[in-house]
Amino acid sequence: MKSNFFITFEGGEGAGKSTQAKLLSAFLEKEGYPCVLTREPGGSSGAEEIRNLVVKGDVAKWDAMTEALLMFAARRDHLVKTVWPALKEGKTVICDRFADSTMAYQGFGYADNGLGQATVERLYQIVVGDFKPDLTIILDMPVEAGVARALQRDANVNRYEKMGLDFHRNLRKAFLEIEKKEPGRCVVVNADRTIEEISADIISVVQSRLLKA
Ligand SMILES: Nc1ncnc2c1ncn2[C@@H]1O[C@H](COP(=O)(O)OP(=O)(O)O)[C@@H](O)[C@H]1O
Ligand SMILES: [Mg+2]
Repeated sequence: MKSNFFITFEGGEGAGKSTQAKLLSAFLEKEGYPCVLTREPGGSSGAEEIRNLVVKGDVAKWDAMTEALLMFAARRDHLVKTVWPALKEGKTVICDRFADSTMAYQGFGYADNGLGQATVERLYQIVVGDFKPDLTIILDMPVEAGVARALQRDANVNRYEKMGLDFHRNLRKAFLEIEKKEPGRCVVVNADRTIEEISADIISVVQSRLLKA
């Protein structure tokens, strides 16, 4: 029985990624799948150091390429130190954001200085190779409602939360485009519902796509 799935959560700020990643981890543990719950940027000590560089400070602190390189440097450290060893031990890894966020934020997100898909795909190939998530859950909801949830959670807005509503609308579109390109890997879940409803949907997707596959 395969037990080492790599599952990623994607979506905008406040969509419920951290909440749902935790609930899925608890469900899978109960079903007998040992899980590692982790996040990007971060998830290893080196990657958490890089995280501090990107989540704090001025919106315009980095240009898109520099930021993408920092994200991929953090990702490489996270994969080498945390994700790949856990998968090798037969654990399921649940990751709060992964490369689709880099594609959405640095690839499509910025109105005038996004890198574009092809460049982010080339970086992915160099740094990550052919490794991909078994399943990516994209939590989708109206941007205003998500940002309001994120603000309610934490009055200290981070660098990404400071980017305007148009930026966040581009992100939402980008995640939906990513799902259209890779429907076998990605599933869009309506996140504008109760925590319990969303969790039940995610569990049924995981059961049908991974556990009973
Ligand atoms: N379905 C939901 N309905 C209402 N509030 C939610 C829902 N999911 C999460 N929240 C709350 O909204 C805030 C943001 O959720 P969080 O999981 O941190 O989102 P993300 O990790 O995607 O930014 C938290 O305070 C959380 O408790
Ligand atoms: Mg979160």
